[in-house]
Amino acid sequence: MTRRAIIAGTGSALPVRRVSNEELARTVDTSDEWIVERTGIRYRYIAGENETTGTLATEAARRALDAAGIAPEQVKLIVLATATPDQTFPSTATKVQTALGIADCVAFDVQAVCSGFLYALGVAESMIRGGTADVALVIGSETFSRILDWEDRATCVLFGDGAGAVVLKAEEGERGVLSVKLHADGRHNQLLYVDGGPSTTGTVGKLRMKGSEVFRHAVVNLATVLGETLEAVGLSAEDVDWVVPHQANRRILDATARKLGLPPEKVIITVDRHANTSAASVPLALDEAVRDGRIKRGDLLVLEAMGGGFTWGAAAVRY
Ligand code: UT7
Repeated sequence: MTRRAIIAGTGSALPVRRVSNEELARTVDTSDEWIVERTGIRYRYIAGENETTGTLATEAARRALDAAGIAPEQVKLIVLATATPDQTFPSTATKVQTALGIADCVAFDVQAVCSGFLYALGVAESMIRGGTADVALVIGSETFSRILDWEDRATCVLFGDGAGAVVLKAEEGERGVLSVKLHADGRHNQLLYVDGGPSTTGTVGKLRMKGSEVFRHAVVNLATVLGETLEAVGLSAEDVDWVVPHQANRRILDATARKLGLPPEKVIITVDRHANTSAASVPLALDEAVRDGRIKRGDLLVLEAMGGGFTWGAAAVRY
């Protein structure tokens, strides 16, 4: 039997405040019509003063642990994906550790922007297979609202805040994470970046994006990595029960599914209500579809994401 990391539970958390396109259009030169037509986004959640990447991550992690029936002290590894940590250091993962009352475990952050959850899943899964831990929390949490230029209509309407988490548990058998494929190509740094940082400007900076160029790369890279991930486990698009994609733009989701010949009904969509929550979007979508009963035990899931760097990746999971 093969030792694998199974998804034992999922959880998510959103800020209290929901903001509609109409509300944004009162302060930015945009319209509900433009945003819906070009992106599919209708709402996003924006963190309040007391809500941070760390608090949202903790809430999502608690829900995932409850769903898995696992106590915090059983967690031996926390991998948290974020590009918007509470502080430059210490890691937000150690903040979650403390908030959950876990005395000792391995805890660190992973930075791969919108692909962060896939990277974190890949790292945690291989650490579980290698024997570092039997139980891990893998979290994607972001407060992109804090790094948006609220005067740049081309970016500020696209993002939102939130967190999602999964509990991974070592188990022998057929279920679990079957394959994770990750990529990066730093030649495209300048297409999606933040114009500040501790070692350059000494400031946090604001998000900058050449949206239409990112769009072009996204469809090609995502379709390719999904094919690669399925091929690695000897499966094809017809075997897939659910696609759980990064939620950047409804048009990217539709185009990627078309390219792979996957019917749109198999794609979990949350971009309309959450907007782009970067590393949080895949686990947020996963948790929603698990809780509403669409995703069932034994289903074959493919998770995928693409983001700044560029980074991109996909995973095949027997849920
Ligand atoms: O999560 C990481 C990965 N990120 C992504 O995957 C994002 C990928 N990119 C996209 O989703 C799309 O490219 C966008 C939604 C960002 C933009 O859609 P687009 O169809 O590529 O539009 P565009 O950037 O080519 O802009 C078209 C027009 C421009 O006006 P002109 O120059 O044609 O007169 C923009 O100024 O739309 C204008 N525009 C807006 N108009 C109203 C840009 N933003 C807005 C806005 N409201 N918010």
